[in-house]
Amino acid sequence: MKPRLIVSRQIAPDVVTRIHQEYDCPYEGKEMSAAEVIAALHAHKADALLITSHVRYGAAEIAAIPDHVKILATYSVGTDHIDIAACKARGLQASNTPNVLTECTADLALLLMLNAFRRGAEYEAIMRKGWRVGYGMGEMMGRRMSGKTLGILGMGRIGRAVAQRARGFGMRILYHNARRLPAELEAGAEYVADFRAMLPQIDVLSLHAPAGPSTTGIMNAETFALMKPGAVFINTARGALVDEDALLDALQSNHLFAAGLDVFKSEPEFDLRFAALPNVFLTPHMASATVETRNAMGYRALDNIAAVLAGRPPLDPLWT
Ligand code: DGY
Repeated sequence: MKPRLIVSRQIAPDVVTRIHQEYDCPYEGKEMSAAEVIAALHAHKADALLITSHVRYGAAEIAAIPDHVKILATYSVGTDHIDIAACKARGLQASNTPNVLTECTADLALLLMLNAFRRGAEYEAIMRKGWRVGYGMGEMMGRRMSGKTLGILGMGRIGRAVAQRARGFGMRILYHNARRLPAELEAGAEYVADFRAMLPQIDVLSLHAPAGPSTTGIMNAETFALMKPGAVFINTARGALVDEDALLDALQSNHLFAAGLDVFKSEPEFDLRFAALPNVFLTPHMASATVETRNAMGYRALDNIAAVLAGRPPLDPLWT
């Protein structure tokens, strides 16, 4: 008999194929609320649950998961949607999918950065409207990205992959992290122990820290004001890190030259004031959205589930 699995959302087709080979899973590919998921876990007597970061599993939802479920695996590196302490308290194994999305997330950060410096959103809109009127040499000018100073908040795997790419653009790299990295991981990046002290020194800030008590709202009116006039702001981490009213003020007043944003406080109902600003390049939380990476994430989540159902710890445990 195959183990029984519930999947809470539409996932990559190749991963669905593997699920049908290995699991008894009533997969419909629809987005389920936590209440629908819990009902399905009971109805299907599921052994495992595969979720995504779109729905929050707080203490109440974790408590409602039936005992026959041995693991809650999230198809994400981010874990801020899961009450990990509640999982641990009731002995429910939990896992995420680190590593496999590092490269694609870093690629998207660079995509946002280039588009923010070079007015990508405006140029694209002009072309889609037919162009037709030529621009003088002094019009529609962006800012040069190569050779500038990049500040990275969070120098984990993704932060370091962004730094590696930025070095190709001849950028100087400063970073702030909970602790300084060994020299071989810094690879020339300069540690700044005080995050606020880093902000006036950089031309672009890219966020790569997880959402949590120490990072929630870390970018606010005060910290945006510390950034250089004309700086660029990039977020592929989590919307919770940013006071969005403060960011809108910084963009509307042109204190910041531009922003590139993949994540928002509310998703998918993001604040439409961002869409009205020409100096913002926007993507709908898609940093990991390539066939290669979404497959790798799904397979890693299934490997975590298989380990636990075989009586082993998860490969990527969220608690020990
Ligand atoms: C992640 O894996 O955390 C991505 O942001 C998708 O949720």
